[in-house]
Formats: sequence, structure tokens, C-alpha cells
Amino acid sequence: MRDYEAVIVENKQIADNIFSVTFRLSETASVRCGQFGNIAVGGTHLLRRPIAICKVDGNQVTFCYQVKGEGTQKLKTMEAGTRVNVLMPLGNGFFVDEKETKVALVGGGVGIFPLISVLREYLGRKEISAYIGFRNKGAVCGLEEFEKADKFVAVTDDGSYGEKMNSVQAFAEDLKKGNRPDVVLSCGPTLMLRALKKVVEEENIPCYVSLEERMGCGIGACLVCVCNLTNGEHARVCKDGPVFNANEVVL
Ligand SMILES: Cc1cc2nc3c(=O)[nH]c(=O)nc-3n(C[C@H](O)[C@H](O)[C@H](O)COP(=O)(O)OP(=O)(O)OC[C@H]3O[C@@H](n4cnc5c(N)ncnc54)[C@H](O)[C@@H]3O)c2cc1C
Ligand code: FES
Repeated sequence: MRDYEAVIVENKQIADNIFSVTFRLSETASVRCGQFGNIAVGGTHLLRRPIAICKVDGNQVTFCYQVKGEGTQKLKTMEAGTRVNVLMPLGNGFFVDEKETKVALVGGGVGIFPLISVLREYLGRKEISAYIGFRNKGAVCGLEEFEKADKFVAVTDDGSYGEKMNSVQAFAEDLKKGNRPDVVLSCGPTLMLRALKKVVEEENIPCYVSLEERMGCGIGACLVCVCNLTNGEHARVCKDGPVFNANEVVL
């Protein structure tokens, strides 16, 4: 982990209210899929914003973000050439065991972005099926990446692109047809992860979920991001996660 003084190469809109920012780092970073960066947006915003690392190409790193509050609003206005401090890579990330050959990715909303990093890391080494869901057609993005998967299904909540369903329903439908993965990797809203946990528990399929919590330091020191584990203990999402075994975390 390092606090890079990164330079923005490109910051562009890729869907309704969703932007992609690419930084050039002073050197190539070693990143595991599912890790994140804590981006200093500057000004009066003392707390950095945690965003999943989506793509790494040499010394260039791309993050995709939805504009939500003041921090991401400010990030959106930053132009190429701007210097920004990015603390990365943070968190544990996703890991696929050698004996797990069939991998299902189930993502919803901004949760699709860390899954792009998984796809890029395991493409050609695993058989990957991706089920991704968006609110509506305007929010659709990242297709050029997911189309590289062995199987790919995109759906929307309102049916304006693909079928009208969420990504967990798309995954469950395929499961019923006999497409059973060895492991499921997922990221998305908590409600979606809860629904997924139910499906995988019934089918006894290992599943790892990436959680999103409000964060402060991003490095395990402030305890802002604590989540509950099923054994009654607690974990820091930034340092012990953000990826957890779905069995071990309370959703
Ligand atoms: C590990 C991780 C990965 C993430 N990856 C992505 C991603 O790839 N793309 C994306 O669009 N969003 C992602 N998020 C959510 C993103 O961090 C928030 O949307 C963002 O911090 C909102 O900042 P803001 O200043 O615009 O909003 P505000 O609401 O003004 O933020 C106020 C404060 O709350 C924190 N905060 C607000 N919402 C969240 C949230 N959902 N999660 C964590 N902290 C929050 C902010 O960091 C800030 O400190 C991720 C969150 C986590 C924890
Ligand atoms: S954000 Fe500070 S401990 Fe996780």
C-alpha cells in the first residue's frame, strides 16, 4: 500500500451519473482484483473516498464512480493533469481457489466495477459467467468488459435493457437450468447480497461478497467501517474485507 501522487489522464462520463477516472501512477502498482483505493478529493473534504479498483494497465489505474454527494461531485470536475493523492491498493480482494474452475460473477449497480477487475484477472484461466444488473438502460456501462466472459447476462430493474429482473434472479434462473458454478463472487447493494446469500445457501455453493460501508481511514485504524460477523465478532470492512465469505458475515 502506498499513497500515490497520481495524475488524472482522463475523467469521463460513461453512463447516467457514472464516470470513469484514469490516473497515472509514478510506478506500476501490484493489485489484486477486488481491492480498492482511497481517493483524496481535496478542499474541505478531509475524508478520502473509497472506490474499487476497476482496471490496471501498466502504471495506469481506472476507477468508475457514481456521483452521490459532495466528494464524488468534486471528483467529477477534476480535469486531466490534476494531481490527486490515492492510497492504494487497500483491502483483501477476491481470490479464486485453484480447484474452482467455474466462477459466477453477480453484480448490481456500482458493484459491477470490482467484478470487472476479477474478470480481467481470471479471464482465460477460469470459466466465467457474469450476471450484472442495472437500474435502467441509462445506467448500463462496462459491457465491453463483461462481453469477454464465457457467458454474460445483463438485466435491468425496469426491463429497459435486457430482461426485467435483478442479477440475483438472472443467476438463480441459470442455476435452475443446471449452470452450477464452483464459486460465486459478488458485489452490490446489501439487499441484493442478502438475496444471493439465500440462493447459494440453499444450493450449498461457496460465495464471497464485497461489502460497502462508510469509511474513514481505509487502513484499519478508526473502526468506522466495522461490520458484524455471524460468530458474534466484528470485522473492519477496509482491512479484514471488503471481501468476506457470505457464510461468515451478517447481511
Ligand atoms: C470498498 C468500497 C468500494 C467502493 N467502490 C465504489 C465504486 O467502485 N464505485 C462507486 O461509485 N462507489 C463505490 N463505493 C461507494 C463510494 O465510496 C461512495 O459512493 C462515496 O464515498 C460517496 O462519497 P460522496 O462524497 O460523493 O458522498 P457523501 O455522502 O457526501 O459522503 C460523505 C462521507 O461518507 C462516505 N460515504 C458515503 N457513502 C458511502 C458508501 N456507500 N460507502 C462508503 N463510504 C461512503 C464518504 O466516503 C464520505 O466520507 C465503494 C465503497 C467502498 C467501501
Ligand atoms: S475505515 Fe477506518 S478502520 Fe475501516
